[in-house]
Amino acid sequence: MEKIRVVGGSPLEGTVRISGAKNASLPDLCAALLTDEPVVLTNVPEVRDIRTMGRVLSALGATVEFRVGGTVEVRTSDITSIEAPYDLVKTMRASVLVLGPLLAREGRARVSLPGGCAIGDRPINLHLQALTKMGAEIAVEHGYVEARADRLRGAEISFETVSVTGTENLMMAAALAEGETVIGNAACEPEVSDLAALLVAMGARVEGAGTSTVRVSGVEHLGGARHQVIPDRIETGTYIAACAIAGGEIEIQRCVPGHLRAVIEKLRQTGVRIEEGPGNLRVRAPRQLQPSDIRTLPHPGFPTDMQAQYMALMTQASGTTTVTETIFENRFMHVAELERMGADIRVDGRTAVIKGSTPLSGAQVMATDLRASACLVLAGLAARGETVVDRVYHLDRGYYRIDEKLRGLGADIERLT
Ligand code: EPZ
Repeated sequence: MEKIRVVGGSPLEGTVRISGAKNASLPDLCAALLTDEPVVLTNVPEVRDIRTMGRVLSALGATVEFRVGGTVEVRTSDITSIEAPYDLVKTMRASVLVLGPLLAREGRARVSLPGGCAIGDRPINLHLQALTKMGAEIAVEHGYVEARADRLRGAEISFETVSVTGTENLMMAAALAEGETVIGNAACEPEVSDLAALLVAMGARVEGAGTSTVRVSGVEHLGGARHQVIPDRIETGTYIAACAIAGGEIEIQRCVPGHLRAVIEKLRQTGVRIEEGPGNLRVRAPRQLQPSDIRTLPHPGFPTDMQAQYMALMTQASGTTTVTETIFENRFMHVAELERMGADIRVDGRTAVIKGSTPLSGAQVMATDLRASACLVLAGLAARGETVVDRVYHLDRGYYRIDEKLRGLGADIERLT
């Protein structure tokens, strides 16, 4: 079990390059199931979840070729299985994104229910309700979703809760359905727009992606395409927070500032100096961070995937910050670990109150999910002494070489095998 060891106290300086977005690459890979022609994705981050998705697609009959430098080619000349097995889906919930494409392409799908995870039980009921409205017959038994549809029909759908992968599953299902599908209360995340751009390049007719109403007119056939995945906005926000908490001044390259507007504005309110360029950011830490409350919200609000990293930062702010997590019911698992490092945080339901600033001391800590791991690494950058973060596989699911990138910025950090 690998660990990451951080010794706090070194301000960051230099340049870091952002990798492609994990949460855009995952639906983009699944979209390749919709055609028997090759789909080539570039700027795909070489992280664990991408490998897992490669295994899921291969299990369905796709040929997945990982080339050097983040290019992935997927060829699904024919689907040889319609089952996404439990042992893969349980390791990565995003595997449910094969449901829509399989139904659209093959008319059948057998996908294991993802089961809960550290941050909540995360059902897929909204995905299933929407697919049923498109004519799919769906049964849930023995922990699997059994779905079939001779031909999906366009429908008028409105999600009662904004769901990122729910919106993405529906867009892919609707791309080959008969007639028009209108998705109301759709997720507006940049990753949804990235999927739409790929689908359009494949010949789909999609309008309104990035807004809360997406219209998809089904077509008979989709072809192959070449598509560059957008940069990872959460990785970008994580490095802004890293500089803010460790001190110093860094340049973040190959990012899209417009994809994390709420994060940039909020961090400016805490005193972080952020200058925007066309595809880069210059970040300078303030001498003293100021507290500023957040509520996580669907895009374009403050992203839940930045909540843990922001909480670590606010332990160093001069005053009290309130963090309200409105998306997931159990995304404060990092609080206990931060408290072991000296943070003063009180949790009441979906709200955490952080008293700053508290000096942090290095400790042995354990990560529970991808973003909680990042939060603990950030806290380690500011803590006195040595922090060892266990269960680093969580980090490797969504961050490409975070230890190397932070070391390149001057952090005293190493991976212990
Ligand atoms: C996506 O998960 C992301 N994953 C998550 O990132 C991110 O935290 C989340 O969106 C919210 O932004 C990928 O894109 C692969 P949701 P997703 O469906 O789609 C409830 C990371 O760190 N809900 O938008 O699974 C759900 O329980 C990961 O990279 C239902 O009740 O999230 C949650 O409370 C973590 N029924 C809320 O909606 C459903 O059918 C939003 O979930 C679907 C969702």
